[in-house]
Amino acid sequence: MLNFAVRTARAAGAILMQHFGQISSYKRKSSPIDLLTIADTQSENFIINEIQTIFPNHHIIAEESANIESNSDYRWVIDPLDGTTNFVHNLPIFAVSIGLQYKQETIVAVVYNPAADKCFWAEKNVGAFLNGESIHITSTNTLDDSLLVTGFPYIHDDKWSKSFDLFKQIYGKTQGVRRLGAAALDFCFVAMGRFEGFWEFGLQPWDVCAGALILEEAGGKVSDWDDSPMPFSGNRVLATNGKIHDEMLEVLGKELF
Ligand code: IPD
Ligand code: CA
Ligand code: CA
Repeated sequence: MLNFAVRTARAAGAILMQHFGQISSYKRKSSPIDLLTIADTQSENFIINEIQTIFPNHHIIAEESANIESNSDYRWVIDPLDGTTNFVHNLPIFAVSIGLQYKQETIVAVVYNPAADKCFWAEKNVGAFLNGESIHITSTNTLDDSLLVTGFPYIHDDKWSKSFDLFKQIYGKTQGVRRLGAAALDFCFVAMGRFEGFWEFGLQPWDVCAGALILEEAGGKVSDWDDSPMPFSGNRVLATNGKIHDEMLEVLGKELF
């Protein structure tokens, strides 16, 4: 299943690259800044078709399609293009994200950034890898030595405004905060030691499913902002090297909106 997921993510990434740099039109989804391109749709159709060919009974949750229900204990959770806004603006920070769950626990994860040919994968209790090399979180254990990454939701409501207060508070305690625009890669960049932590709210299952396992298998920690297990929904995520987790919880735990 891991080999299948890696092969499928790489092939979907090749589809994305056929369109990268050539997007001239797109649709808007839940908000004026939530975009959909032909690349999202083609990548997703390809992945679903591959899964249905090899594992016809499996349950599939994919961002751009209706839920494909089944009684199977296996559930695929797919973001065919994470970072669509970057993609539309020719910024090469985007990925295909494929997670596989068994009885609601993620067992296989792949996040592929085709523009850099960086393929992250993980298998439960086996480890996390980048293009075949084992990856690990950093040993930095204080926020003031940390570089973090975050993201902001497409819906600009009251919570969205509050998130800027939070940004300011956290920024002031760290060496800096980046906003890259692809949540699946944010998890992987913590996993490979580029960042010490990532937080965001209002994400979706396909944004977090694969990345969370990759980070955990690289030695990191993922939770909700109250330190309970990260919800499948992806709402309120804290993902760190584990060592700065408590310091982050002290700030986020006071902002449980
Ligand atoms: C988005 C990206 C972004 C995050 C948004 C997501 P999409 O996914 O992961 O970093 O801030 O909340 O929706 O729409 O490009 O698949
Ligand atoms: Ca996404
Ligand atoms: Ca997407």
